[in-house]
Amino acid sequence: MLYSEKVMDHFQNPRNVGKIDDADGVGEVGNAKCGDIMRMYLKIDDNGIITDVKFNTFGCGSAIATSSMATEMIKGKSVDEALTLSNKAVVEALDGLPAHKIHCSVLAEEAVKAAVKDYYDKKGIAYDEELFKGIDSCESCHD
Ligand code: FES
Repeated sequence: MLYSEKVMDHFQNPRNVGKIDDADGVGEVGNAKCGDIMRMYLKIDDNGIITDVKFNTFGCGSAIATSSMATEMIKGKSVDEALTLSNKAVVEALDGLPAHKIHCSVLAEEAVKAAVKDYYDKKGIAYDEELFKGIDSCESCHD
């Protein structure tokens, strides 16, 4: 079978789909390969812990599955930990993706990072720009 059971499960029953109206950080990124977009919303408490996370996407099934898994992996974690989440870790947690769908998993990682960056910007928290280098946020693709 092309897709693992975990991928099928997260695709058919995606966790944390939706929007957080009073989010502390919102990230929107586009996938340079296919043009699909993803939006990620984070609710972050005073200790920097992600208490809630939601996403919505125009991405494909693999993007939905990886984002769903990514939201589960960062919920309850600190912002710093969320920044270390790699698309590779998400793909591994899903028991793999076909090689030509790996690029879809990048959307989830980048959307989390873009949302954290937005949170830092809103709160006036200083950060190292290097952390967010190469993130294809939609603002930059509209330029
Ligand atoms: Fe665009 Fe998968 S084909 S995110």
